[in-house]
Amino acid sequence: MKKDMHQKREGFSSSIGVIAAVLGSAVGLGNIWKFPYVTGANGGAAFILVYLLCVALVGLPVMLAEHLIGRHTKSNAVGAFKKLEPRRPWFLVGGAGVLSAFLIMAFYTSVAGWVYAYIFKSAGGMLISTKPEDTSLVFTTLVSGVTEPLFWQIVVLLVTGTIIMAGVTKGIERVTKILMPILFILLIIIDIRSLTLPGAAEGLSFLFKPDFSKITVGVILAALGLAFFKLSVGMGAMITYGSYIDKNENLPKMAIKVALADTLVSLMAGIAIFPAVFAFGFKPDVGPKLLFVIIPTVFNSMPFGRIFMVFFFVLTAIAATGAMLSLLEVIIAYSTEQYQWTRRKATLLTILAIGLLGSTATLSNSILAQFTVFGKTFFDFYDFATSNVLLPVGGIFIALFVGWQWGHTNVKREMSNEGQLKNDGLVRVYMVLIKYVVPIAIVLVLLVGLKILQFE
Ligand code: TRP
Repeated sequence: MKKDMHQKREGFSSSIGVIAAVLGSAVGLGNIWKFPYVTGANGGAAFILVYLLCVALVGLPVMLAEHLIGRHTKSNAVGAFKKLEPRRPWFLVGGAGVLSAFLIMAFYTSVAGWVYAYIFKSAGGMLISTKPEDTSLVFTTLVSGVTEPLFWQIVVLLVTGTIIMAGVTKGIERVTKILMPILFILLIIIDIRSLTLPGAAEGLSFLFKPDFSKITVGVILAALGLAFFKLSVGMGAMITYGSYIDKNENLPKMAIKVALADTLVSLMAGIAIFPAVFAFGFKPDVGPKLLFVIIPTVFNSMPFGRIFMVFFFVLTAIAATGAMLSLLEVIIAYSTEQYQWTRRKATLLTILAIGLLGSTATLSNSILAQFTVFGKTFFDFYDFATSNVLLPVGGIFIALFVGWQWGHTNVKREMSNEGQLKNDGLVRVYMVLIKYVVPIAIVLVLLVGLKILQFE
């Protein structure tokens, strides 16, 4: 074992800082870009209900599991398993997590690049139209280009790399603490505008009036995948952040707060978008471009819309950046602790590697469009392989590890802060969830959703 592994290990400096960083990881393009379009593509309210169940019964317990082992071991995703079970191959779960971080970053930096570009397009007046045809054209031109989207992807990597290099406290914690509240306030303003559009009611009923005939196994798999992606769980990001959390923090309480706040932000993004979708005569199932085409039309129909639109994309960029910090930190914590790389070297090599891989996602809308893996473009493949396969499978193993291998006594000790918190009942309920409910639910959804097991 390397002796100097834990010397001068950084951590989050306050409870507010912990919430900001963890929520900063959870809140991201997942809420503002993915949640609305996946909801739109899967029929609205019924999907949201299934999603909420997935968050409460699967996502949240896995988040807590990751925090528990992260904080206990004070190690990165791979190191945590190695410390607890040095003689068994559990560390492969962490290894798969590091791989997932690369794959998610590959497409995430691409979309974040579009968002960064939109800040400048909206400021420059290139998005001034209430006609969807016009805003569609701006989007298509951007993503089907070559140099422009690649340029923005590189900008994204440089920005996130710079913050990461500044460290956990001075980089991640400081940046997220300032920016999360601002995001929230802006969403409220935009929601008010959206709700007062003529025709808003149709959008609201799409969001909140479930039509259960729309639920299929594909829908359930999409909801489960989104729950993992949203809460940043299943690949060790929360093990890594957990390792920076103070031993006196109430972990279950914090995880619940984060899950609630994150869900609220998703619903608020839905309220910002769907009334406008229907008001302007769009279809809700247009896929990933939903945000980029609809939001400009909403802003353009309000006074001072251009300024608000700039703010909106600035804040979406911030949310995306906060989320990417956690993805990068998984790789950085791993390489600095397991290989003793300096933070600087680790960051530079990581963003270089992500840049190379990520360019294949970005260019899959243009020159690489005809290359496919399992019938999907690179972009779609990275997205599907992580959200719908790697994260849920990672979740199964994390749950099995904490529930069966690490076990009740250790969970109880860590969850109660060595007996300081009186939460025995909660621990017992939690053990049932993590030992049985989580793994069984995921296995079933995966088998059926990936068509390994078929009815009829
Ligand atoms: N949760 C983030 C979002 O919704 C994305 C994200 C950040 C993530 N870190 C992660 C997803 C780790 C999976 C795993 O945008």
